[in-house]
Amino acid sequence: MDTIKIGILTLSDRASSGIYEDKATSEVEKILTSFIKNKIDYFKELIPDNYDLIIQKLLYLSDEKKCDLIITSGGTGPALRDVTPEATEAVCDKMMPGFGELMRLESLKYVPTAILSRQTAGIRNKTLIVNLPGNPKAIMECLKPIFPAIPYCIDLIGGSYIENNDEIIKIFRPKKC
Ligand code: MTE
Repeated sequence: MDTIKIGILTLSDRASSGIYEDKATSEVEKILTSFIKNKIDYFKELIPDNYDLIIQKLLYLSDEKKCDLIITSGGTGPALRDVTPEATEAVCDKMMPGFGELMRLESLKYVPTAILSRQTAGIRNKTLIVNLPGNPKAIMECLKPIFPAIPYCIDLIGGSYIENNDEIIKIFRPKKC
């Protein structure tokens, strides 16, 4: 079974300066570890909402660490400092807008402010980058609906072969004809 490399990039001015505790990073790790059967190498980064720094970390995680998947958390809203989607788009070869569309649709079941997240996803080389909102509660709300499509997306870009824990989450891979 392949070892999967996953980057978790958490964006928060306040959590990165110690004003409050970062709960998002561990939440992403806990959920992905429960969904994925393979051994996972995690690369975790907690930084402020700084456009240049986000780009630097995304490049480090995709080009140097060769992550199959990078999950960002935070910085997707309308505030002046929220620039995660812009930084994501700047490093991606190809955008995957369906991820953001589905996450907003599903998130509306939980919060009327779901539409305030500009979260998106895209591909850089063999890395899929997905934005999630910063609220720790939003992480399961967003990861659960999109995860079924993630392993096949990573297959299509030449990444590692993800095997899911079927009793926890189902995934979908179209049958080869
Ligand atoms: N999506 C889910 N699933 N759950 C949430 O609690 N919060 C919303 C939205 N999407 C939320 C959500 C709110 S209030 C905001 S402002 C935006 O995400 C942006 O959050 P961010 O700036 O932390 O990324």
